[in-house]
This record gives sequence, structure tokens and C-alpha cells, in this order.
Amino acid sequence: MKKFTCVEDIGNLQVAIDEALEIKRDRFRFQNIGKNKTLLMIFFNSSLRTRLSTQKAAMNLGMNTIVLDVNHGAWKLETERGVVMDGDKPEHLLEAIPVMGCYCDIIGIRSFAQFESKENDYSEKILNQFLLYSGRPVFSMEAATRHPLQSFADLITIEEYKKTTRPKVVLSWAPHPRALPQAVPNSFAEWINATGYELVITHPEGYELDPTFVGNAHIEYDRKKAFTGADFVYAKNWAAYMDPNYGQVLSKDHAWTVDTATMALTNNAYFMHCLPVRRNMIVTDDVIESPQSIVIPEAANREISAQTVLKRLLTD
Ligand code: CP
Repeated sequence: MKKFTCVEDIGNLQVAIDEALEIKRDRFRFQNIGKNKTLLMIFFNSSLRTRLSTQKAAMNLGMNTIVLDVNHGAWKLETERGVVMDGDKPEHLLEAIPVMGCYCDIIGIRSFAQFESKENDYSEKILNQFLLYSGRPVFSMEAATRHPLQSFADLITIEEYKKTTRPKVVLSWAPHPRALPQAVPNSFAEWINATGYELVITHPEGYELDPTFVGNAHIEYDRKKAFTGADFVYAKNWAAYMDPNYGQVLSKDHAWTVDTATMALTNNAYFMHCLPVRRNMIVTDDVIESPQSIVIPEAANREISAQTVLKRLLTD
């Protein structure tokens, strides 16, 4: 594997999940394959889980790690080619990227959608420049349109908790005070579609996702119908994707908060969320604290998905 930015890069999904579960059983078995190798993690956006779990995964493999918070302590970066750089950005990404590549063996990059241009966001402008110019294997730590390390961890978690071979998985929009990217729901849909599990996506009208990611999922606007019989409920907020409302908050309707009444419609479903989660906006205290909530094991599996990806990037 030379890059990891989407589900296709991981190859056979069942093989990848089995490999991840093997790593989880003995996460220090491959502690020498990263010896004298350096992982550079570059963050254009904040993180708790991705930063800690990926660093831990690299340490399990014997790697050295460098973390760069681009917005804290680095030169402000110009990203547009052709700009006369007479403003407040003294360095261009086109020099910065190959320079960063000089100091490491693998690069992880987090760069969210900026909601300034749908075209820029959905063409993955920043991530693709790292792929083109760093000279190193690159993996996504959440880009503008996808969060594959999260989705891989989500699938590992579902594999561990599922009670049927083809569970019903419901991806539900939930309210949030601010506009959030579509990367997590896009990616979750993409990975679940690759499994062949039943996927139902429910959201208020106007929150339709990019059809490329929705694939064969069933869109159900009737929230109660969507939740009925669910084995897994994956709650997430996202801003509107469709034009002319791209990047906008169209609703903060608390009727979409996942509560005990909603969960009672399900097949005793497990509750999932990528975290961080806003309690009593996305999900009530009761649900997230219930035995059916698996948000912590889900977050713990971020170390495993990252370690599986890093192991492959080191050895392939
Ligand atoms: N789920 C996730 O990616 O968490 P962080 O934003 O804290 O890294």
C-alpha cells in the first residue's frame, strides 16, 4: 500500500479487518518494522483521537513521530498557485511539502473541508498536493471528503459487536450548532457499502450527501422507519452538501437528537459516534452512557486501524 485515502486503498476489506484483529490481539508483535523510520503527522485542524491513536500506533511499530500543528508555530502557508505573496503568508505549500518529505518516511495529513469552495473541497486540493509533491507514502488523518482511519475503526468495531452476518446499520443526521464537514458520513457510507451490510441513511430534506458516497444505501426521510429494527445507530452531524446550500446549517431540530425513545425502536442497537460529540444535541446523556453505547471501544479501535495502515505502508 503506497497511500491510504479511501476504502479502495485497503484492498480486500475482510482481509484488512482480520489483520487488524490480529494486531489487536498482540499489538507489539511488529515492534521492529518501524525502527529508524519517522512518521510526520501534519495537522491543519484540531484533533484528540487521531493525534493520540496514530502516534500510539506508530510507537507500537517502533517508529519515531513528529507532530506539526500548521496553525501553531509554523509559517502561515499559501496554498494557491499564481498568488503574488505580498500578504501574511510567507511560505508556499509547494515548497513546504517536499521539505517536510525530507524529514520523514511516511506522512499523515489532516486537512478539513473549508466550505469556501465545494470544488476545492471535493477535489481534495490539499491532500492531493501532498500525494503529488511529498515523495513519501501519504495517509489521510481526515481530509475534506473522507475520514478513512475512522471508518476502518468503525468497521472493526461493528465486526466485534455484530450479532448477524448482515446487520442493519443506520446513519442518522443529528443537530449541531456549527457547520461540520461531510467527511465522516461520506466515508462511513463508502466503507459500509463495501461490506454489503444493509445501510439506511436518514436526515432532514436538504441534507442529501454526495451520491458517489451514498451508493446503494436506502435514504429514508421518515426517521422512525429508519431506526426500526436497526442493529447499529451511527449518529453524526453534517452541513448541507447540495447546491446552493453547500456548507450551510439548514436545521438545528432537536427532534433529530438520538434519545431513548428513538433507540427503543431499534433491535437493541449499539450506538456509535466518531467523537467528539455534543451531548444533548447529537445524543442524550442517557443514550451515550447506556450499555448499548460503544463510542469508547470505537475510539480505542482508532489505534488498531492506524497501526494496520502504518504497518502496510511500512512493509508493502
Ligand atoms: N474522531 C476523530 O477523528 O477525533 P479527533 O477529531 O479528536 O481526532
